Amino acid sequence: MEVQQDEDFRPNFHFTPQKNWMNDPNGMFYLNGIYHLYFQYYPDDNVWGPMHWGHATSKDMITWEEQEIALYPDEKGYIFSGSAVVDKNNTSGFGEDGKTPVVAIYTYHDAKAAEEGKDHQTQAIAYSLDEGMTWTKYEGNPVISNPGLTDFRDPKVTWDDVHKQWLMGLATTGETFFYSSQDLKNWEKLSEFGENTGAHDGVWECPDIFQMQVEGSDETKWVLIQNLNPGGYNGGSGTQYFVGDFDGKTFTPEKNMEALGEKHDFWIDFGRDNYAGVTWSNIPDDDGRKLFIGWMSNWMYAEKVPTETWRSAMTVARELKLIKEDDRYLVTSLPVEELKKYRGPGIAKNNIEVNNNKVVLNSSEVDLAKAEIRFSIPDLKETAYNFRLSNEAGEEFIVSYDHAQKEFVVDRSHSGQTNFSENFATERSTAPRISAGNELEVILIIDKTSIEMFFDNGKTVMTEIFFPNQPWTEFSFTTANQSFTVKDFEAFELNFPART
Ligand code: FRU
Repeated sequence: MEVQQDEDFRPNFHFTPQKNWMNDPNGMFYLNGIYHLYFQYYPDDNVWGPMHWGHATSKDMITWEEQEIALYPDEKGYIFSGSAVVDKNNTSGFGEDGKTPVVAIYTYHDAKAAEEGKDHQTQAIAYSLDEGMTWTKYEGNPVISNPGLTDFRDPKVTWDDVHKQWLMGLATTGETFFYSSQDLKNWEKLSEFGENTGAHDGVWECPDIFQMQVEGSDETKWVLIQNLNPGGYNGGSGTQYFVGDFDGKTFTPEKNMEALGEKHDFWIDFGRDNYAGVTWSNIPDDDGRKLFIGWMSNWMYAEKVPTETWRSAMTVARELKLIKEDDRYLVTSLPVEELKKYRGPGIAKNNIEVNNNKVVLNSSEVDLAKAEIRFSIPDLKETAYNFRLSNEAGEEFIVSYDHAQKEFVVDRSHSGQTNFSENFATERSTAPRISAGNELEVILIIDKTSIEMFFDNGKTVMTEIFFPNQPWTEFSFTTANQSFTVKDFEAFELNFPART
């Protein structure tokens, strides 16, 4: 049997660069019908190196077209993660001839200074007058110099319409710093947050702060996303969040989030493979959604995954919502609606009875390398409910929901190629079930090397990658001791234009 490798592992629809290394999503903005995605990129090798901003564009956040490299490293340093805003009112003064400037705010990482033990991370800006295709670096860089901190990076800027200011979240080792500006060039420090709450078993990176309306009410709250590595829920890289109020200067978390420990419940994604995610800017003006994308890997093994030509993919774009349930605020996420327009004909099976092992779908019905599967399990009992992907090489990827423990458990130890890193599959990934409901609702988005699992309308989300030696051929349910019924099972093959 031929074993899958390299191009066989290239996702059908998740964004990957044609060649070489990619990590964090950067500078996402929307303008005139186009979604822009920049990313940490090293064009000369398939492992991390001097960082550039790669670039891709899309009309719907699903099908991406890779563009020319947007930002190259220079004598001030590598171009680390950051954000971009559409400066509609030309507050920066970069606009010319009525053209709207798009301003990118990023970190310079001076590798030489780092080696010499000197301050080496500063914040800088660049602008584009052709809607993000080409960029000019500001001559007055850096716009924020380093106050003597080792980790001082990943500026995420948003227009704070309540307090009429550009608002920046910036990551330092274990705190988010907030800064304010009127012109994107002069920045004033406002406050610091986070020393006493949240997971801290690593370095805080890639923050994001924005306001959201609570679903079904007029109430608004502020959400702070704060990535960290290592120290994620399942070790390595992870994306936690806090909900609270922001008075224009200081972020105050909700009471129940004032002193969170390491293994709290507030993660955008509990899986191992969604990191450095932040939101698109400029969307609220257009359709009110909060759109998010993450890097579908983990620093524990990202440089070792078994692909050569390129390394790593982005998650599917997701819509975030803020809900209030039993007096606590939760950020939920689901794949963006745009994904549905790629659905081919669906297969529906209602009331599937599961005893032992029941194959419900095979790859001749729906190609399991580009599939959306939905189902629910009603009347949950204190037992474990399992589903799995398997192939003819005897490999399997197993997900179990244990209703006694209210816990999801992912086992990828026999999912194909795993021994490229001891951190990949020796431990199982787990996630708490956040919903208290008696019916489990599941949406799965499956590509050749990834599964994104949205439970209970996105209250618990897990993203995991895998490298099976043969394509998955079956999707089945299993049970150890108790039969159960699966309701409203639907599966769609997702059809995408051929890659160019
Ligand atoms: C997160 C990160 C950022 C940094 C970038 C460097 O994955 O470490 O903090 O800006 O990657 O590529």
